[in-house]
Amino acid sequence: MSTIASRTRTQVAIVGGGPAGLLLSHLLHLTGIDSVVLDNRTAHTIETTHRAGILERDSVRLLVDAGVDRVLRDGHRHEGISLRFGGVSHRIDFEDLAGASCWLYPQTDVFVDLHRARTAAGADLRYGISDTEVTDVVDAPRVRHTGADGHRHEITADLVIGADGSRSICRTLVSGATQYFREYPYAWFGVLVEAPRSAPELIYTRSPQGFALISQRTASIQRMYFQCDPTENPRDWSDDRIWNELQTRLAGDDDFRLLEGPVLERAVLPFRSFVQTPMRHGRLLLAGDAAHTVPPTGAKGLNLALADARLLADAIEHALVKNDATALEHYTTRALARVWKAQHFSYWMTTMLHRAEDTSEFDELRQLGELDSLVTSRAGATYLAEGYTGWPTR
Ligand code: PHB
Repeated sequence: MSTIASRTRTQVAIVGGGPAGLLLSHLLHLTGIDSVVLDNRTAHTIETTHRAGILERDSVRLLVDAGVDRVLRDGHRHEGISLRFGGVSHRIDFEDLAGASCWLYPQTDVFVDLHRARTAAGADLRYGISDTEVTDVVDAPRVRHTGADGHRHEITADLVIGADGSRSICRTLVSGATQYFREYPYAWFGVLVEAPRSAPELIYTRSPQGFALISQRTASIQRMYFQCDPTENPRDWSDDRIWNELQTRLAGDDDFRLLEGPVLERAVLPFRSFVQTPMRHGRLLLAGDAAHTVPPTGAKGLNLALADARLLADAIEHALVKNDATALEHYTTRALARVWKAQHFSYWMTTMLHRAEDTSEFDELRQLGELDSLVTSRAGATYLAEGYTGWPTR
């Protein structure tokens, strides 16, 4: 057995230094609770891995209330989206329907802001580590890892949080858990392109060739996706082929055209729906993708992770400062109430806008009927607006 080079005692050991882990660490710090954050990835890898870019109203509120407010300066407030089908765009006006907006602000920026806030506060953040081992989660959690220095280190804590993403090692420690899965017969082809904005808001498109999403990043960089087969190889797609596919899916009688430019990055992004329950085992609690993943249609993943961090911060404060351990017992129920709503919303947006390979004419016409009833009914459009901008945190 290798020797332990350092032993650290903290209140909360957080495995996973993405937005959920960092926000939790930050919120705990604001209530005087100390934590250590660990991640196998380097901060640079996380900063440069493109993820979704939409924050719900209450996600923005949560960040701003915690003093992390660059989103208000560098983010873009979106008061609606376009739903495009049959070659026609239909605006869903969030402000009018739900009295709320969402914000276009990439997950990478959320990470950068939280990482900066934690670093400025002198937090113990350990990125680029390896061989993380979490043990004794029922009574006295212990986390061992090999540091960037090549030595073995140990952390003991009152609680350990598994915020370690969709390939979580922590979730395997929840014995007797139930897992729910749903696979989809398609993936997204995601591109980052250098081009001006083609539209002021996001366009979610259903076309006979399948789904496409036009999103943005900056005045000169855009993010776009189109539905593809999960086995598609990004290297088979030239810039021309990508633009042709996107233009075909967006085409309509209004002669809408995307503004084109060089494709900077391309990747096939498979997805599925997943939930694990319970989200707690003894002194281990799970947050974000470690416990649940959603398809990206509707951009709920990051928002769910931030909402978990908020609930956890509250429960941990009750448990460690106010000596009320029942707060931890309620965590799964409270978190999953939101998660299942988001699971339905993401599944619904996905199946309403994508085209399965073996789809029948009946399914196609039914799908168009569904979209049509949505955009012609204030009640239908309001459900979309409320779900997209996010259910109130309480
Ligand atoms: C993005 O901008 O990357 C994005 C936006 C909305 C989604 C998914 C991804 O539903």
